[in-house]
Amino acid sequence: AETHFHEFVIQAVPVKRLCRTHSTITVNGQFPGPTLEVRDGDTLVIKAINNARYNVTLHWHGIRQLRNPWADGPDFVTQCPILPGRSYTYRFTIQNQEGTLWWHAHSKWLRATVYGALIIYPKLGSTYPFAMPKREIPILLGEWWDRNPMDVLRLATFTGAQPNVSDAYTINGQPGDLYRCSSKETVRFPVDSGETILLRIINSGMNQELFFAVANHRLTVVAVDAAYTKPFTTSVIMIAPGQTTNVLLTADQTPGRYYMAARAYNTAQNAPFDNTTTTAILEYKSAPCNAKKGKSSPPPILPQLPAYNDTNTATAFTAQLRSPSQVKVPIQIDENLFFTVGLGLINCTNPNSPRCQGPNGTRFTASINNVSFVLPTRNSLMQAYYQGQPGIFTTDFPPVPPLQFDYTGNVSRGLWQPVPGTKLYKLKFGSKVQIVLQDTSIVTTEDHPMHLHGYQFAIVGMGFGNFNPTIDPSKFNLYDPPLRNTIGTPPGGWVAIRFVADNPGIWLMHCHLDSHLNWGLAMAFLVENGVGKLQSVQPPPLDIPQC
Ligand code: C2O
Repeated sequence: AETHFHEFVIQAVPVKRLCRTHSTITVNGQFPGPTLEVRDGDTLVIKAINNARYNVTLHWHGIRQLRNPWADGPDFVTQCPILPGRSYTYRFTIQNQEGTLWWHAHSKWLRATVYGALIIYPKLGSTYPFAMPKREIPILLGEWWDRNPMDVLRLATFTGAQPNVSDAYTINGQPGDLYRCSSKETVRFPVDSGETILLRIINSGMNQELFFAVANHRLTVVAVDAAYTKPFTTSVIMIAPGQTTNVLLTADQTPGRYYMAARAYNTAQNAPFDNTTTTAILEYKSAPCNAKKGKSSPPPILPQLPAYNDTNTATAFTAQLRSPSQVKVPIQIDENLFFTVGLGLINCTNPNSPRCQGPNGTRFTASINNVSFVLPTRNSLMQAYYQGQPGIFTTDFPPVPPLQFDYTGNVSRGLWQPVPGTKLYKLKFGSKVQIVLQDTSIVTTEDHPMHLHGYQFAIVGMGFGNFNPTIDPSKFNLYDPPLRNTIGTPPGGWVAIRFVADNPGIWLMHCHLDSHLNWGLAMAFLVENGVGKLQSVQPPPLDIPQC
């Protein structure tokens, strides 16, 4: 195994998109940021140097960080932020993981531009469970704002309204042909006729699930979130923020130019969204008129993408995923958790206040089991826990909602008032956990891509409507469920996950739509060993930032 050293300098550089140049926070001046390429078993040592004017942290999305929460990154959860002018070195070893993951900033909305791919190849001497592709391409789907995303967040936090939607979707940082002033920079992927390529697709967007397709080409799904899947072929995939999907594509069409494209999948009835399409071009090298010859080449063909409200296509895609063969799933459950996930509205005493610009003079909020998560400010949860500092968090997160109601029915207004809190749920090290994540129809039903740090879990079931604890578990797939780190609640439905709490530390679980995270759609688990509980976590690095 190898150790890879990197310096990540977080700095603002001018970036031009959609005809305008913006001062953009990047890593090493690159947008998107550098691609990390490692093998399973390797160690990464990344010195993050903050030369920007914002506090920052970096998160290695999907890396398990066994016994090493100090390298996980969410600000005020596992570390205090890196202040401008300071640095912190993230050091971690990949343990039995391979596939496509990614990294991103985990403080406020910096991740809008501070992100990149993290590719884990199999150990030397082992191979993929499919024929070696001729070429591999990371495809980072993203969102671009004409304004500084940090200002977009600040404004929304002030007004309590929905944050402005992005001005473009992007592929590898470029909006593509269909947007103004973007044609020349459209990303092109040259291919040889007949070759098979592996697309490592990552949704690094802030607030938007996406449909993705390549014109005339079929996609064979082989992995999601760094876990192999039973291969199946499809013409379109749905991918939520935080998720990754590896697909094989064979260049078996008439030599020519074909668009790959992504567009919104959005189920929230009242949420504004950008209905534009981002494109890149798959370009056969043998195409009669390729781009080099200029204007005379025919325009590429656009793929068919489902309508933004095509919930059935989106949910059916996710429900089709299976592990390649039997996987270890906990059968007897020690912790049976039921979490309602959803938005809410806070009533204002003065509905005309500039701070109450949500629907009908309210402010948006969000919660799990009616608790709206508040990050601490005086210390990070993990540092406070390790040092035995009281008063930073409580461990009374409710395992079930405080009130039972028809979650996806006509919910009465009185249930729209989540309570703010910094509450953790304690899990005994080694316990077998089931969580049913139930979307609610409070404000709107929605696909919430829920991400759990430090773990990979099995998706054992999903369905529409209210979860039925007497009927639904009998239909669970405990044989070959897919393993993931991020899963969407079907809009107006539920999803059930299982895992063994084998990683001590404090681990955030949250909606990967950053507007929802900002409203408090998060909670955290404290996984501890009953005896000698601290010994099982590595000691913090000496340079960990203090608050
Ligand atoms: Cu990819 Cu907590 O995030």
